[in-house]
Amino acid sequence: MPEFLPIRLGVNIDHVATVRNARGGRHPDPLGAAQIAIAAGADGITAHLREDRRHIVDDDVARLKEYIAKPLNLEMAATAEMVGIAKNLRPHAACIVPERRAERTTEGGLDVAGQRDALRPAVGELTASGIRVSLFIAAEPAQIEAARTIGAPVIEIHTGAWCDAVAAGNNAAATAEFDRIVRGAALAKSIGLEVHAGHGLDFATAETIAALPGIVELNIGHFLIGEAIFDGLAAVVRAMRAAMDRGRAKAGAPGSRASR
Ligand code: PXP
Repeated sequence: MPEFLPIRLGVNIDHVATVRNARGGRHPDPLGAAQIAIAAGADGITAHLREDRRHIVDDDVARLKEYIAKPLNLEMAATAEMVGIAKNLRPHAACIVPERRAERTTEGGLDVAGQRDALRPAVGELTASGIRVSLFIAAEPAQIEAARTIGAPVIEIHTGAWCDAVAAGNNAAATAEFDRIVRGAALAKSIGLEVHAGHGLDFATAETIAALPGIVELNIGHFLIGEAIFDGLAAVVRAMRAAMDRGRAKAGAPGSRASR
């Protein structure tokens, strides 16, 4: 059986800041959560600095960059303000996401195909600053091709629609969405892009998607922070790491999607 790259876990700590901001002050501190997640097996930390600073704030990303021992992935909109912040901060990676003020979370993928000219300079400036850029997109061929065209080395596939279909028990939709992810990941890999995935993942969906050998990183937030209320963050990160490792062990197994 072929050996596949291990799959990395990026823990998104935005919602630690959501809880903190509900009261103001400094508790609970996203930096403390990041350190616990790393000690429990996270390969990196993801934080989304939104234009409205609804959870993570500038001081959080500055302290994360300074104090965590693993790579920081900054999620950001492709605005002049955010590109400037990223160029000063120099996180390991930046994931460009669409942002709409009224949304509760990042609801859809970035329209790279429709905004090539607007996105290309941001990708170029971040890359020139030594930041590895990824684009958060739906697993659509046009978006994947466009990501490569404007020079992004990495895409992150939006798994939200698949996870919603799984959670709703809609098997037909879940199968269709998963097929789309499988095909998208294969296409992206075939044209030289590194492939990540995220949004809405839980233990079961993370285990399933970890079996796709072309996907090398999952970014997971809301579920982990929610589960941490019951079991503690360290235990939950360890359980997620174990779920992903179980999934990865199935990659390439006879009859698996990934082996085809
Ligand atoms: N990846 C990206 C690009 C995101 O915007 C988000 C949400 O901030 C996530 C992953 C994590 O999604 P969730 O919090 O649903 O796990």
